[in-house]
Amino acid sequence: MIRILLIGNGAREHVMAETVKRSAHDTALFSCMKSNNPGIAFLSNDVLTTSYDDREKIGQFARENKIDFAIIGPEDPLNNGIVDFLKNEGIPSVGPTKSLARLETSKAFTRNLLEKYDIPGNPQFRTFTSLDGIEEFIAPLDGIVVKPDGLTGGKGVMVQGDHFQTKDEAIEHCKKILEKYPSVMVEEKFEGEEFSLQCLCDGITVVATPPVQDHKRRFVGDKGPNTGGMGSYSLEDHSLPFLKKEDVAEGLAITQMVAQAIHQETGEYYKGVMYGGFIVTRDGVRLLEYNARFGDPEAMNILPLLKTDFVDICRAIIDGTLKDLNIEFEKKATVCKYIVPGGYGLPADHPDAGSTSSKIEVSDTEGVKVYYSSVDKREDGLYMTSSRAIGIVGIADTLDSAEEMAEGAIASIKGPIDHRPDIGTKSLIDKRIQHMKEIRG
Ligand SMILES: Nc1ncnc2c1ncn2[C@@H]1O[C@H](COP(=O)(O)OP(=O)(O)O)[C@@H](O)[C@H]1O
Ligand SMILES: [Mg+2]
Repeated sequence: MIRILLIGNGAREHVMAETVKRSAHDTALFSCMKSNNPGIAFLSNDVLTTSYDDREKIGQFARENKIDFAIIGPEDPLNNGIVDFLKNEGIPSVGPTKSLARLETSKAFTRNLLEKYDIPGNPQFRTFTSLDGIEEFIAPLDGIVVKPDGLTGGKGVMVQGDHFQTKDEAIEHCKKILEKYPSVMVEEKFEGEEFSLQCLCDGITVVATPPVQDHKRRFVGDKGPNTGGMGSYSLEDHSLPFLKKEDVAEGLAITQMVAQAIHQETGEYYKGVMYGGFIVTRDGVRLLEYNARFGDPEAMNILPLLKTDFVDICRAIIDGTLKDLNIEFEKKATVCKYIVPGGYGLPADHPDAGSTSSKIEVSDTEGVKVYYSSVDKREDGLYMTSSRAIGIVGIADTLDSAEEMAEGAIASIKGPIDHRPDIGTKSLIDKRIQHMKEIRG
């Protein structure tokens, strides 16, 4: 019996729990959640509901259940050193230590690492701890992006053209960021199409999973404010319609160099997921950022396709034997769409912002996966709370069928839900292809 501790309570962790339970090994799953996810609870032998910083309770829960290893889903506990804590308790983790998680938690750390080890992919960039020199630095740049140096839940980055227009406004944003964060990163804006490449890493070997494209904007046609992610798709050929074959290979090559560099820099082996947020530009692949964990929604695209035993992969990451495993994914297309309450993601002053919990009815649709996020199971049924409620995933031989399956399942859900009907559709994909054509010239 392999006894596994899973930390996290979102749809990403729901699909992780499901993938653990698909293992051929005899497993017992113990889940630590900050609020109850009925999907994860259903798959778990026992559940601890507490803050991820509650070391005492987590330590006790792990000891009582004789945990063999832990899997960490979200970035916050990584940033707060949960892996270091568990290591002290004698429990290894799939997930980096606090120091290695700087790959996600400090954008300056990552940019400097690439620069120091001569790894391609950086924009022109500089970090500032005061406004001194910002004006001079941005003067020659065509487009500017301003980023707080810390975790922002995907809501802190300001992009010229999207969030502000002029250089004066850029400096204003820097000023505001410096009031809250110790430093601000200012960088050159890239033009291109983005993709997520979630790689598995044991500290030496890096293995890519199929690339995925996420949709951050709240509304159809990539309009409205940024969200945690409204949905995502992947293709049966494990590429994306606007990518060249070498683009994915370039993202993987950068990540392999980063794995080596971070070991040289810290003396520690990075064990977990290195998720590169890349952008393909006219001049090739560039790095936007790394995340130190699977994406939410992107985990829901790739984990259901995994043919290799996930528990074997976790053990290989911990033991440093990933090179001995042949990691395979089904050649299928996936479309994930989040259903959300209507008020989700809107600014507080918007008339429709916020939402009270409302009841929904979800019926089973054959072949469609349902992953719970912010939902509450009460005696009289399932309720949405205020955030992304359920990830609906269609899986099929082609993108069109996967998209239709997801839409079919969403149409059968009863309740005041919203979602993005355009994710995974031909018209949106054609826009991406056209955009990339224009960029490549
Ligand atoms: N240098 C850049 N050029 C163009 N767009 C960028 C750049 N950096 C970030 N962005 C845009 O901002 C989004 C968020 O930035 P990212 O670095 O991924 O931070 P986070 O996910 O922590 O908010 C990206 O998905 C991308 O759309
Ligand atoms: Mg990002």
